[in-house]
Amino acid sequence: MALNSLTQTLGLQLPSRIDVLQFYYLGTNIQLSVKRDDLLHPLINGNKWRKLAAFVEQALDFDSLVSLGGAYSNHLLAVASLAKALDKPSYGYLRGDEHRSENTYERWLRQLGMQLMKLPRETYRDKSSLYAYLSTQHPKALVIPEGGHPLPNPNRLAELLDEQPLPYRHLLVSCGTGATFLALAAGLGARKQQMQLHGVSVISNPSFLAELNAQAQSRYPFSQLSPHPEKIRLGKLSPAMLAISKACFEQTGLAPDPIYDAALLLYLHQCLLTGKINSEESCLWLHSGGMPGWSGYPLESKQLFGL
Ligand SMILES: Cc1ncc(COP(=O)(O)O)c(C=O)c1O
Repeated sequence: MALNSLTQTLGLQLPSRIDVLQFYYLGTNIQLSVKRDDLLHPLINGNKWRKLAAFVEQALDFDSLVSLGGAYSNHLLAVASLAKALDKPSYGYLRGDEHRSENTYERWLRQLGMQLMKLPRETYRDKSSLYAYLSTQHPKALVIPEGGHPLPNPNRLAELLDEQPLPYRHLLVSCGTGATFLALAAGLGARKQQMQLHGVSVISNPSFLAELNAQAQSRYPFSQLSPHPEKIRLGKLSPAMLAISKACFEQTGLAPDPIYDAALLLYLHQCLLTGKINSEESCLWLHSGGMPGWSGYPLESKQLFGL
């Protein structure tokens, strides 16, 4: 199945449109454009589709798909959906083997036909041994690395830059593994663009951030990676993350995902306060999807959105 017919099978809403929002928050006010990759597909949306598209051609040559992620992995949800669309078995390895009841994501993964296995956290941490183990366990499978990083073909993701003219001064994107940020940096460099690329990381490890930042700048000098504005552990929500998500939803009807884009909006707010970004400048937020992530925070979702 070629990429084009797969996008039809999945009913992907490509190209994604750009909406313009007026967003004010604690003393700042900005007209913010949003590339609505969150609308691409209910489960393979945002950067999940953009990244997996880079694996599709390879995937066709394998019998099954294998990947890994945390307990609420948007990436695994996308891999399971892709495998189902390709009519291939899929296997998902979860970080942590502690006993707990099945969460919503795990139920969805199972319903999509993904076979789940739990791994002790130490085993999960040592990625090179883990990938070798997965390849021996599944010799006929394509092993897609965690979060799709590194991408076999970053150009595929960067094609989103060609879907419409992007006459913006700033492009903001949230970062986990950095696969999306790096592919965009490479794409902007190749297109000789001059807009400022802001990556906002949810990982706090300084050496990881420095390395990623250096890699991005070597591809595109106008790129910069910043740490999470709240310096909070991955998976935790701060009062500020909740407050900005609520403000965004109430004013625009659009919610950020709880982890990644809530951090991005807080970063934007800080930039507006410090003058790093002027509210008169044009800004594009690449919405990276992940809305099902709110299912992991039922109390907060009810409080914020009445869901
Ligand atoms: C909703 C969401 N936003 C952002 C990211 C970060 O993307 P990347 O790992 O490419 O940096 C992820 C992880 O894939 C995600 O699920």
